Amino acid sequence: MAEIETLTAETAEQVEALRIKYLGKKGSVNDLMADFRNVPAEMKREVGVRINELKTLAQERIAALKEKVATTETATADIDLSRTAYPIALGARHPLTIVKNEIVDIFSHLGFTLAEGPEVEDDWHVYSSMNFADDHPARDMQDTFFVEAHPDIILRSHTSSVQARVMERNQPPIRVICPGRVYRNEAISARAHCFFHQVEGLYIDRNVSFTDLKQVLLQFAREMFGESTQIRLRPSYFPFTEPSAEMDISCHLCGGKGCSFCKHTGWVEILGCGMVDPAVLEANGIDSTVYTGYAFGMGIERITNLKYQVKDLRMFSENDVRFLGEFTAAN
Ligand code: DAH
Repeated sequence: MAEIETLTAETAEQVEALRIKYLGKKGSVNDLMADFRNVPAEMKREVGVRINELKTLAQERIAALKEKVATTETATADIDLSRTAYPIALGARHPLTIVKNEIVDIFSHLGFTLAEGPEVEDDWHVYSSMNFADDHPARDMQDTFFVEAHPDIILRSHTSSVQARVMERNQPPIRVICPGRVYRNEAISARAHCFFHQVEGLYIDRNVSFTDLKQVLLQFAREMFGESTQIRLRPSYFPFTEPSAEMDISCHLCGGKGCSFCKHTGWVEILGCGMVDPAVLEANGIDSTVYTGYAFGMGIERITNLKYQVKDLRMFSENDVRFLGEFTAAN
């Protein structure tokens, strides 16, 4: 008994050796059991009780040793004091998130607040309220993803739908910046994807003019692409703005001199914009005789490509850590 109580072991192998020695098939406890039949009848009872006590004691002791050894072994195995601190590789923000945050930051310093709307939208918010005629080609199946059983429910194809969401719930002054994901039924290639991201801006108040729009966009372009950036506005057409324009920035790679990136023009297109069409204000419950506004919309992938020269749009959705890891420093 005393012998069993003082048993010790340092490793799992030693514990196992003890188990075999005392509790194994040919172990001492079994030997005693085998001798039991030679014990005289009048002593059987007492000897039986003693053997059972011995067996329980051995089992308990060995189980305790097993536990002790297991905890010390894992404790020492888990702690490697020679390892360098913080060996876990840190993740990086997605490049589109980095650029989105930067765009939102710039506009929030100019007084714009964040607004968001649903990606699964209805025709009204995406098209009708934005002054798209019923037969406008943008509603065509080629562009828009429809929900089969409910032709009125679509995946928004631009963030302009958030303009309608904001206007229907707020009266001017309105000054919002709306980032979000949009969907278009396009074949996936290096230059097109069936989903991408946009940022929409909307400002409505009394006496808002085209000059205000131009000034805000110039400020944005300089903060985003550098102090020496120039902008130019070219007349364009969107159903929801009148007049409409597309904005180019001077190519920040060649400084406007002309290079292969800007196709030797010195300019690269970055967004669409214009004065909110009075029909849009009226459709969304805002008095167009009192208020005017401007709006603009840009693709986040496009801005990211300009900043980081990502050649293939598919890189943004492939989750390749080698690509994503390149943006750790930009966090
Ligand atoms: N919604 C347009 C698009 O997806 C972008 C755009 C152009 C938004 C002009 C605007 C705007 O707010 O004024 O191509």
